[in-house]
Amino acid sequence: MNTQKESTYALLVQQAQALVENEADEVANMANVSALIHETFHFWWTGFYRVVGDDLVLGPFQGPIACTRIAPGRGVCGAARERRQTVVVPDVEQFPGHIACSSASRSEIVVPVFNAAGEVTAVLDIDSEHLATFDDTDAHYLEQIAALFTR
Ligand code: SME
Repeated sequence: MNTQKESTYALLVQQAQALVENEADEVANMANVSALIHETFHFWWTGFYRVVGDDLVLGPFQGPIACTRIAPGRGVCGAARERRQTVVVPDVEQFPGHIACSSASRSEIVVPVFNAAGEVTAVLDIDSEHLATFDDTDAHYLEQIAALFTR
C-alpha cells in the first residue's frame, strides 16, 4: 500500500540525501534536514539533540525554543538514546518522565542517530500538537533520514 504519507516521505528521503551527500559538516546537515522535515509536514517542533559529553545537547531545530540539555535516560529523547531504538509516543502524558519543553506537544517520535561504530551520537526528535501523530511509517522513513548521518 502506498499512502500519501509514504509518497511524501519517499520524496523527502531523496531530498534529504541530496542535501547532505556533498556536505561533511554535521550541524549544517542537521539544520537543513530539520528545516526540510518541518516545512514538509508542518510539525510542531523538529530538531536534533547531539550527544555532547554525557548529555544530549540541543542542536539545529525548527519550532519554538526548547530545553537545551537532556541528561542520560531522561525523557523520550533519553529513552531512545538508552534503548538505541526509535520511540513513538502517541500521548506524552502517558509517558513517564516525558520532558515538557512545550505544553502544546501532545505526541512525539524520537529516532537515534548512530555513527559508523554503532554509537548513538544524536537523536532526531519530532513533536506534534496532536495526539497519535506518528506511526510505523514515520519510524521507517525517519530512520532512513537518521541513517544519512552515519558517517
Ligand atoms: N519532549 C522531549 C524533550 C525535547 S522537546 O520536546 C523538544 C523528551 O521528553 O525527550
